[in-house]
Amino acid sequence: MAHLLHNEYPADSLEAKDLQHLLHPTTNLQLLAATGPKVHARAKGVYMWDNQGRQYLEGMAGLWCTALGYGEEELVEAAATQMRTLSYSQLFGGKTNEPSILLAEKLKAMMPFDAGRVFFGLSGSDANDTQIKLMWYYHNAIGQKDRKKIISRMRGYHGVTVASGSLTGLPYFHSHFDLPIPGILHTDAPHYYRGAQSGESEAEYVRRLVNNLESLILKEGPETIAAMIAEPVMGAGGVVVPPAGYFEAMGEVLKRYGIMLIDDEVICGFGRTGKPFGAETLGMKPTTMSVAKALSSAYLPISAVIIPEFLYEPMVELSGTMGTFAHGFTYSGHPVCAAVALRTLELFEERQLFAHVERISKPFQARLKAFAEHPLVGEARGVGLIGAVELVQDKATRKAFPGKQGVGAYCAARAEANGLIVRNLGDSLAFCPPLIITEDQIDELFIKFEKALNETWSWVRS
Ligand SMILES: Cc1ncc(COP(=O)(O)O)c(C=O)c1O
Repeated sequence: MAHLLHNEYPADSLEAKDLQHLLHPTTNLQLLAATGPKVHARAKGVYMWDNQGRQYLEGMAGLWCTALGYGEEELVEAAATQMRTLSYSQLFGGKTNEPSILLAEKLKAMMPFDAGRVFFGLSGSDANDTQIKLMWYYHNAIGQKDRKKIISRMRGYHGVTVASGSLTGLPYFHSHFDLPIPGILHTDAPHYYRGAQSGESEAEYVRRLVNNLESLILKEGPETIAAMIAEPVMGAGGVVVPPAGYFEAMGEVLKRYGIMLIDDEVICGFGRTGKPFGAETLGMKPTTMSVAKALSSAYLPISAVIIPEFLYEPMVELSGTMGTFAHGFTYSGHPVCAAVALRTLELFEERQLFAHVERISKPFQARLKAFAEHPLVGEARGVGLIGAVELVQDKATRKAFPGKQGVGAYCAARAEANGLIVRNLGDSLAFCPPLIITEDQIDELFIKFEKALNETWSWVRS
């Protein structure tokens, strides 16, 4: 039905009603009106079915989030049991509940840094908003009232709220929304393939990026900068894996100027890169961390901000004079979300899923990187169970297609026609399957993708 114009859908169809009633997030609204929506009907494991009965292999884990795949009865059970026991509770004013306490304890034990406290939210965006507010609050509490700016990176993705959307370094998310807000700075994306100068080695490229960061810090005044935020692997910016030594070198500069590092693990967290956290794979030394998505395998919305005790202590002191620490959401520590997240983390352990990812990522990356030989592919990149291929007009010069040609979108549409869900980020096709994917299913994924890629190649040549 996707080929029908929207006025050709029967009036009582879900498609027609969708087009009448919904404002779709992060969607080309004109294109949607012309092509119509895709109705997801049901899903199990790594497969999804639409309302026409067509089956798709889920190559994107939803929005990089359904780590345990769909229809996991253990999580259904965890939610139902918790709903029957205590369907809602809160953490305001010192009230609490068992799932939130146990989840905080477990998360702290998993952290690759000395974790002190856990704050719960509902989304990656609100987690990163909380990160900014905690940085501001902490620096006010210790009397460093000028240390407020946050450094982010171009092509970084940290959410869409007013503050987290400002951290995001993608023009679409700023333009016409009057973002970014003041005090958010953007430094380079660490993409060697696109960013390196002619003849520049990876090591020289890293050195240049680090020098650019240091120049930015010195220009702004180190005493005005609170923190830098970074994803270990950039997701929505095109699956950008930084070159070797990048985070180690960036970390030295941040340390020199007393600037903290906020690790946005909303995509990379919980095994995606082959280790529990992307920071461990990419050599990052976080001060604080944001997690969401795979934390509950996306069965229910929940995010967490994890901070060291030294950030918490002055906040407690300030509470002595100020009274309430006035930040929190109605659903901070929602017991059903927390119970599902807790069971998710247990299942990761019981099923040794991170070790599975480490194993399965070898054939996954080998299949992915073989596409670098394809005439349409400029770069095939990735780590663990995440990756992308970037389509180019000219392999030798790395010349991109004109954006308006929509080559990436065409390829994603061909993949879907062949029963595979992938996502195009411009002309980069992203892969991020559920962590439970098997080697046979990885084969299926790339066979379907190769077909879509060859169809795109024919289309481009015609
Ligand atoms: C790295 C990263 N941070 C933050 C977010 C925002 O999360 P949410 O969409 O749950 O607000 C995303 C979403 O894709 C993300 O990829």
